[in-house]
Amino acid sequence: MFDSYSEIFEERGQLYHQAMVEQPRARDQEFLNIVASANLAAGQRVCDAPSGGGYLGAYAPAGVRLVSLETSSVFAHLARGNAAPDPLLSTLERLPFRNACLERVVSAAALHHVAEKDAFHREAARVLAPGGALCVADVAAGSAVSEFLDVFVDGHSRMGHAGMYLDAGYEKRLEDAGLRVEQAERIPFVWTFEDAEPMARFAQLLFGIDRASPEQVREGIERHLGWERVRGGCEMNWELAFYRAVKP
Ligand SMILES: C[S@@+](CC[C@H](N)C(=O)[O-])C[C@H]1O[C@@H](n2cnc3c(N)ncnc32)[C@H](O)[C@@H]1O
Repeated sequence: MFDSYSEIFEERGQLYHQAMVEQPRARDQEFLNIVASANLAAGQRVCDAPSGGGYLGAYAPAGVRLVSLETSSVFAHLARGNAAPDPLLSTLERLPFRNACLERVVSAAALHHVAEKDAFHREAARVLAPGGALCVADVAAGSAVSEFLDVFVDGHSRMGHAGMYLDAGYEKRLEDAGLRVEQAERIPFVWTFEDAEPMARFAQLLFGIDRASPEQVREGIERHLGWERVRGGCEMNWELAFYRAVKP
């Protein structure tokens, strides 16, 4: 068993990135929802924390000054070879920015791995300029996605999975950091693939599912999330909770 998610991502980062490179369009709807929720626009200084391999870069509108920040050296290295030539390597509890210098801090699909969320919120509030926003998109407690991760992925991977998901108290935690919550909303969307086989392979790589056949992964997706064939491919259900919390 692994001690921490940081260690897990040191091990899993390469596979996660392989999934994203093989299926660069699969999470289009997710990233477009993030861009919309964060109201990203030209001229803003935006920190993507943690950025993984710098995937948000492909979706940020032209003129956004995007800084990728990673907590794992593996992902920082991968981001460098991808869309983010100059990623910062840092913890989330101490962000390497001076006070009030960013318009957005975006955090996608990561905080459910992080116990010290409050320290991150406080740091985001510190580095945001007045009117700037911390924009979080992550797995909601009690959702089908949390069940898929903590039941199916946990039961079918050597590294296991136990997330610290965003629950009903999350909004208050953002407010306790001095932020005003403008959006708190669960948004369902789909991940898209050309067929069921690449869908199962994507999930295997992305989540490090190494104790299930592709057929079992497809069944797990079907049982916990649902997927369907559509003209020209297939769609897998996914959902995140989106928060936009503004610094007054
Ligand atoms: C699922 S990836 C998400 C990456 C990217 N934002 C995306 O949407 O693809 C999880 C990210 O959280 C980071 N991470 C995992 N556990 C962490 C922890 N305990 N503390 C800080 N960062 C962590 C990883 O380095 C990785 O960048």
